[in-house]
Amino acid sequence: MPEQEIKGSTRLCGLIGNPVRHTFSPQIHNTLADLTGQDLVYTAFPVENPEGLDAAVRGAFELGILGMNVTVPYKQDVMKSLVGIDPAAERIGAVNTLVRTENGYKGYNTDYVGLRRALEDKGISLKGKNVVLVGAGGAARSAAILCAEEGAECLAILNRTVEKAQSLCDAVAAHYDKIKLLPFDLQKAGSLPLDAYIVIQCTNVGLYPKVQETPVSDPAFIRKAEAVYDLIYTPEETRFMKLCKEYGIPAWNGMDMLLWQGVSSFELWTGAQVTAAQAEIVKKKLRKVLKERQ
Ligand code: ATR
Repeated sequence: MPEQEIKGSTRLCGLIGNPVRHTFSPQIHNTLADLTGQDLVYTAFPVENPEGLDAAVRGAFELGILGMNVTVPYKQDVMKSLVGIDPAAERIGAVNTLVRTENGYKGYNTDYVGLRRALEDKGISLKGKNVVLVGAGGAARSAAILCAEEGAECLAILNRTVEKAQSLCDAVAAHYDKIKLLPFDLQKAGSLPLDAYIVIQCTNVGLYPKVQETPVSDPAFIRKAEAVYDLIYTPEETRFMKLCKEYGIPAWNGMDMLLWQGVSSFELWTGAQVTAAQAEIVKKKLRKVLKERQ
């Protein structure tokens, strides 16, 4: 529960999606509200009927709700109900944050910002680098646009279904002409004609409870990596991360991306500037909640 008292002046933010029961966002935002002294509470709203999405967004606006997060399955569909969309979110084709404006909500993608801030935090720069994305779904889309925005030299997208890797490459190429794009079959990862790359693991393979699974295990692929960022945060160390570390490759989980996407949404809603020390407190809280869940 938020420590602050809920009053007539208290603003409300929330999450829409389906399901929303297992989200960590209330812990992130209510902790941030306490730490920054914002008179705000955050809760989750299951929107079970997809046809009710537009009404839910309009209703939220009419009720004075300050901001919303959006999760599966609505990150694309919600875009129809907005009065504006941030250019990066437009390119990604998905929105996870709604920010109140005078006439309605504007959409942003803080998954993308969260990944950028998480990589910065680890001292990883994508500029001029070779980057390998493992996966070509929704999460990979944000990562792919980030790579292009940050000026990566070459982006290889490895996926089990190569057609999807190809179509994600096409989507990137539609907006960016400098980055070299290489769709590739994940099953042949060991023969990828690229080296000294940063790997961003964007599939859900290895996610709790299937912790023994890994999207790729070929040493010929793993050995050529310089650093690995796995978007999964449960378990804290995926089998893929473990394999990478066995070859001396530094590997991190997606906890910081989760943290920074939340911080970035909170900053957009409130105008507050979250300090590194405050973010660290939220991270400790997230770790504790994650441990209790497992
Ligand atoms: P998300 O929004 O989390 O990215 P998604 O859009 O459903 O979820 O994408 C899931 C990704 O994980 C896809 O790249 C998927 O590969 P396919 O496009 O071939 O389906 C990948 N994925 C899921 N299960 C996989 C498995 N067992 N082996 C390899 N890749 C897998």
